[in-house]
Amino acid sequence: MFTFWALIAYLAVLTILFRMRGGIGMFWSTAAALAVTLLYLAKGFDPPLPGSIVKLFGGMAVIAVLLYITSSESGRSAFFAPIRAVMVERHRQPLLGVLLLVIPGLVAWQSYVAALPSDVAPPLIRSVHPAPPGTIAVSTQGANEPVTVDIIKDDNPFRALQTTNPPEFASRVARGKVVYYQNCFYCHGDHLAADGHYANAMRPPPADFQDASVLPLFTETFFFWRIAKGGPGLPAAATPWDSVMPVWESFLSPDDMWSVILFLYDHTGFKPRGHEPAGGH
Ligand code: HEC
Repeated sequence: MFTFWALIAYLAVLTILFRMRGGIGMFWSTAAALAVTLLYLAKGFDPPLPGSIVKLFGGMAVIAVLLYITSSESGRSAFFAPIRAVMVERHRQPLLGVLLLVIPGLVAWQSYVAALPSDVAPPLIRSVHPAPPGTIAVSTQGANEPVTVDIIKDDNPFRALQTTNPPEFASRVARGKVVYYQNCFYCHGDHLAADGHYANAMRPPPADFQDASVLPLFTETFFFWRIAKGGPGLPAAATPWDSVMPVWESFLSPDDMWSVILFLYDHTGFKPRGHEPAGGH
């Protein structure tokens, strides 16, 4: 509605200016029409036009006005008469003096503003899903030997239970749910949608497991790596890694970490990505 009334107002002002061109002169009526057109482009739309469109159409309006002025000899002389008068007539010299200060002043101010250093932080380019290492050694909570997990070849040790032993699988998922609501929901949220109590306090935000670009696109071993090693375990490619994702191998057994992964998939309904067979299809 606003856009409609803005168009009506714009056309009305243009018509008035066109009618007045005899009275106020060619120069002022065209300059005012151009100013109104630029104002209309910049402010007359809801939602506003993108800056590039405003510049494009503003530039076309300037060209149209120049064509209009120069299309006839009388138009040209009528348009340039006031400019000429300011340049050559003696009694207008004070105005010329002011213009000689104001115009370079505006240019200088514009250059100054453009050269000011910006206080807007540069964008952080961060690889959200960096390539994992080939194998990781994971601490086993009390047992002496860390276990080695091959991110490429291994699988969630409990995944096969889904077909071979569904009751046992269900109890693993239930265990994962307990692990999740004891440790993860503060950040990742009640419904795994990255909306936990603390989620707004961190940049980068916690992973959103309801987002289809997270769980289905990666293998369970990938997430095992991310859970075991957390933010501090991210490789250089993921810098700046000011991730607060904790290092869960310090608190959870490998079994609990595999179980919580089962829960993530079970709760969201996504399927884990399988391993690609090595050496092509
Ligand atoms: C203190 C807040 C916090 C807690 C608690 C937390 N996380 Fe995170 N988690 C994060 C943040 C922040 C990220 C995103 C940055 C990153 O990828 O490291 C993340 C990322 C992840 C990722 C990587 C997802 C991806 O897209 O690669 C997984 C998997 C994950 N968390 C699982 C868990 C699990 C499981 C738990 C509980 C055992 C948990 N998190 C507890 C903050 C937390």
